[in-house]
Amino acid sequence: MPVREKDKPIGVFDSGVGGLSVLRALTRKLPGESFVYFGDTARVPYGDLSPEEVCRYTVEIGEWLLDRGCEMIVIACNTATVMGMAALRRVTEAPVLGMVEAAVDAVLNDSGDEDDADAGGAHRRGVGIWPLGLIATQGTLDSGVYQSAFAERAPGKPLYTQACPDFTALVEVGRTEGPDVDRAINIYLTGLTEKKIRTLVLGCTHYPFLAPALSAFMGEGVKLVDPALRLASMAGERLARNRTANIGAIEAADTGENPGAVEFWCSGDTAEFKAVGGILLGCPVDVVKRKAFGS
Ligand code: DGL
Repeated sequence: MPVREKDKPIGVFDSGVGGLSVLRALTRKLPGESFVYFGDTARVPYGDLSPEEVCRYTVEIGEWLLDRGCEMIVIACNTATVMGMAALRRVTEAPVLGMVEAAVDAVLNDSGDEDDADAGGAHRRGVGIWPLGLIATQGTLDSGVYQSAFAERAPGKPLYTQACPDFTALVEVGRTEGPDVDRAINIYLTGLTEKKIRTLVLGCTHYPFLAPALSAFMGEGVKLVDPALRLASMAGERLARNRTANIGAIEAADTGENPGAVEFWCSGDTAEFKAVGGILLGCPVDVVKRKAFGS
């Protein structure tokens, strides 16, 4: 019997375990949906690769997820979004969502209602959101995609950027606190504190796992924006528009209960993924399958 459109899973992928921060938001917002998560742990980090390589990997993984029957692709990786989303959209009619629009939206959204705050909205009455700091991979920053998106929607506003390559390596081994994390934060973020930023955008999906340490370093006056919840809302809106959402699930959103089923895949060591994934998600990751792509 053919699978009904609304029963198809949502495909989510990242260069490694970072996209689990997005998966966490998706399962919370859309608890009735099912998901296929792929972490390209054999080829992480993407931040140091050429745009051509990341673009090729993005299309390769996106097509593989579509072949596995996914109805929608969430690129849970900023680097893959800026380097490969346009190419993936060209080869499929299925919805493909990426991080940048969600991040910019989460920052600039100022309607002030509960939901927006939940989605990461940075607006705070009387405090303001500028200057803005953006931390991301070198590849994401070099693409200029974020800078253009902010310049278009908030012309002339001060934006400061910083690449934080070691953060990815720390999160990949499940290290989210401790002296190594504090040392890396100190090296990368001191410059942004000197710019007196009010908002810090986590422009790499690995970074939300460091949020407590980042917050402690930046202090209460700086609002951290994790675009994941905004992206999850956008995915829900898109499913509803396509009439493929599990409506009860949308209504039950935010209860944090009954997370949909997740099938985990990675290209590297499955035992490592299980161990680190369990630490990051705070619940056991029991089964992880392996899918290797060429280099
Ligand atoms: N998690 C990825 C991102 O959001 C990148 C980390 C990496 O592979 O360099 O950009």
